[in-house]
Amino acid sequence: MPQDFPHASAVEGIRFTAQIGIPNIVQGLFNKRELPTKVAAKVGADHFGYELVEGMVKSYGPGPFYVRVAKDEALLVHHPDDLKFVLGGSPDPFASDPEPKLKGMSAFQPDALTISRGDLWAQRRSFADAVLEPGTPVHRLASSFLGVAADTARELTGHAVDYHAIDSAFQRMTRRVVFGDCAADDTRLMDVLGELMSQGNKMPGEPGPEYPELITIIEGHLAKAEPGSLAAEIAATPAPPGGAAGQVIHWLFAMGDTLAANTLRALAALATHNAEQSEVRTEIAAADITTPQGVASLKYLAGCLLEAMRLWPTTGMFARVSTREVEFPSGAVLPEGRQVLIYNVFNHRNRSLIPYADRFSPGEWASGSAGEDWSFNFFSHGPQGCPGAGLSVFLGQAVMANMLSAGALSASGVRLDPGKPLPHSLDLFGFEVQITGAV
Ligand code: HEM
Repeated sequence: MPQDFPHASAVEGIRFTAQIGIPNIVQGLFNKRELPTKVAAKVGADHFGYELVEGMVKSYGPGPFYVRVAKDEALLVHHPDDLKFVLGGSPDPFASDPEPKLKGMSAFQPDALTISRGDLWAQRRSFADAVLEPGTPVHRLASSFLGVAADTARELTGHAVDYHAIDSAFQRMTRRVVFGDCAADDTRLMDVLGELMSQGNKMPGEPGPEYPELITIIEGHLAKAEPGSLAAEIAATPAPPGGAAGQVIHWLFAMGDTLAANTLRALAALATHNAEQSEVRTEIAAADITTPQGVASLKYLAGCLLEAMRLWPTTGMFARVSTREVEFPSGAVLPEGRQVLIYNVFNHRNRSLIPYADRFSPGEWASGSAGEDWSFNFFSHGPQGCPGAGLSVFLGQAVMANMLSAGALSASGVRLDPGKPLPHSLDLFGFEVQITGAV
């Protein structure tokens, strides 16, 4: 008999489904719904999720264990060594297309890299790597992107900025970075994508009715190959199977919505943490933020963004599915076709492993070892790690550096006390930040 993993109890399975599985679905897996998201933050859904998993890890850890989610058992992986084993073995034998994700994403991006396997994944991945250049310190087009980010910072200065305001500014920035100025005002594109993503929340398993329109709009912009934009790079790169437009969809919402959410939270953390804000201001004052190298040198500021993602991950949980039977380093065997869950909400703050779990600690990224820790998967890790991570951090640094240089930062509607453990939820729809006057 192959060695098995421990199994959490039926009651724990019911609690896991009710406290973690269902709230994730109700909030909207792909397009967050405002009211349920507010309610989840208010009732502390992530806090209860953390406590539940912490208790199970004490009972069944330190290795992975099964927990029932609705009708099926899934393997919950939480220790950094096991996370490395799973994410290092992705997309094979741990594929990133478990059924709920595949069915949901098919509505708006049926050809996406993140739900591809085998040779298809490899070809689409090399396209993404060629255009997004994840391995380089600054992207070839960084000076053009920096100009766009500086414009975005100006748009966000001098008035209160809530999630809707930063989201719309970042969507515009995204259209300019991806397609160039020709697409700056094309809000129809994001409306169609938003509608399709809302359909994705219902997991239809097939492209939504507006999908052909979305592809036509994207192909129209790509055809212009505007110099200084990613479209120019795309035109010079062999198209992946299914075409380039099918890949670009993911880039649009990740840069437009996800990055906006994380930047807003980083600004809220800075507005409420004076010591960290003054360290950032000293760093910015010593750099030339009109050059890409100057912006990329702002490691402490980058740490602020990474900390916002660690503390309040926009991807609270993600999953893999075993493509065949897999023996883990412990000797326990996972059968083919089983889901593997990675619950960032717990892993990012695991109090028994992370000394700074509940504190805003940008220095851990700037000069500590946080960057090597496989517990932190807001960008994932391994062969399927986010190829847009470097570009996201650069754009976030560029926008925040330009905003902070323009004046004093304040926040309203949010209370983050540096002397106390930070809350697990920071409701995106519940606060505003503002840059005003002189520093
Ligand atoms: C702050 C912003 C972002 C965050 C938090 C983020 C997070 C992630 C995460 C967690 C994954 C792994 C998902 C999984 O395996 O289930 C991922 C994958 C991916 N991301 Fe990002 N991302 C961001 C921005 C971007 C940007 C700007 C782009 C493109 C320009 C991008 C492109 C991709 C692609 C193509 C994948 C799939 C990679 C693969 O399967 O090989 N992301 N991202």
